[in-house]
Amino acid sequence: MLTLGIETSCDDTSAAVVEDGVHVRSSVATNQDAFHAQYGGIVPEIAGRQHVALLTAAIEDAVARANTSLDAIDGIAVTRGPGLIGSLVVGVASAKALAFALSKPLYGINHLHGHIFATFLDRNGDVPRYPFLTLLVSGGHSQLVEVESATDMRVIGRTTDDAAGEAFDKSARLLGLPFPGGPEIDKLAREGSPQAIKFPRHRAEPGSLDMSFSGIKTAVRYFIESDEGKKANKADIAASFQAAIVDVLIQRLGAAFERKPYTSVVLSGGVAANSALQQALRNWGKQMNVPVFIPPPKYCTDNAAMIAAAAAHQGEAVRADPLTLSADPNLPFELLVS
Ligand SMILES: Nc1ncnc2c1ncn2[C@@H]1O[C@H](COP(=O)(O)OP(=O)(O)OP(=O)(O)O)[C@@H](O)[C@H]1O
Ligand SMILES: [Mg+2]
Repeated sequence: MLTLGIETSCDDTSAAVVEDGVHVRSSVATNQDAFHAQYGGIVPEIAGRQHVALLTAAIEDAVARANTSLDAIDGIAVTRGPGLIGSLVVGVASAKALAFALSKPLYGINHLHGHIFATFLDRNGDVPRYPFLTLLVSGGHSQLVEVESATDMRVIGRTTDDAAGEAFDKSARLLGLPFPGGPEIDKLAREGSPQAIKFPRHRAEPGSLDMSFSGIKTAVRYFIESDEGKKANKADIAASFQAAIVDVLIQRLGAAFERKPYTSVVLSGGVAANSALQQALRNWGKQMNVPVFIPPPKYCTDNAAMIAAAAAHQGEAVRADPLTLSADPNLPFELLVS
């Protein structure tokens, strides 16, 4: 079964063809970073217009690289939310037009479910078993998700303010690093000491798995503006900041496991590409004897293959009508039926 995936929720214009929800036949992603770097972040109006300019070519490219044709595609999967409305509507309108014109089934996918199913891509049978726990850390979200099955998932802990990726991007900006800041901090941190500066770690209320990252971000700002901070090594600041974020995430994950055992842990979302987080999670998994699944970096950040994978796993529960499917910038996590 071949699924064409389309993802335009933010600033990456992506299309992919995935076989049986696992094998990536092609994955095309046109990065818009160059357009947004000059503003220090994503400009929604520019992102939407760029999707209009780039999406048709991305779809044609994905189909050609998969050595197939639109006629041979079995279904079309598209991100319907959450995300930027001007970006989402471009993908949704294109997917609806294709599904209607080609009489193919259409699947309206929650972007965050896509991040979770990225873990199934390009794996030869070595996949997590249900129920597993996902640590989903991205530019807009940070949450712990209990995944009972492909269509039964619930958020059991979440950030009460900034997402981890947002904290990375904002702190990188304070350090004078280019956008997106997460990968830049990751690189710089390799030359610094994670113990150099003691940034605060958010402590959860008793019984809660929620997390907060705005305190770390503010502490970084005050430190950079202080006399000590002006003399400090930037790599030490980056490494110490990163260590604080990783500590909070691993602590909450451990607390979730104390409540209930899961078969395995899945790391997902753009921040899953962070090398310190990956290392800490692998160490935790070894210590706790829990299998850990981490997608390759290209499937951690936004991509259309993960959207096709989610459609293949969720099937009828997300099947949509090409004439009525609409983009929803605030699509709730638990809502499955389109
Ligand atoms: N190596 C890395 N270390 C830390 N953060 C990273 C790394 N690579 C990417 N990121 C961060 O990941 C985020 C982008 O992830 P993603 O594309 O999943 O987010 P998004 O799609 O904008 O948000 P959401 O999925 O919540 O809608 C950015 O904040 C970026 O800085
Ligand atoms: Mg994303």
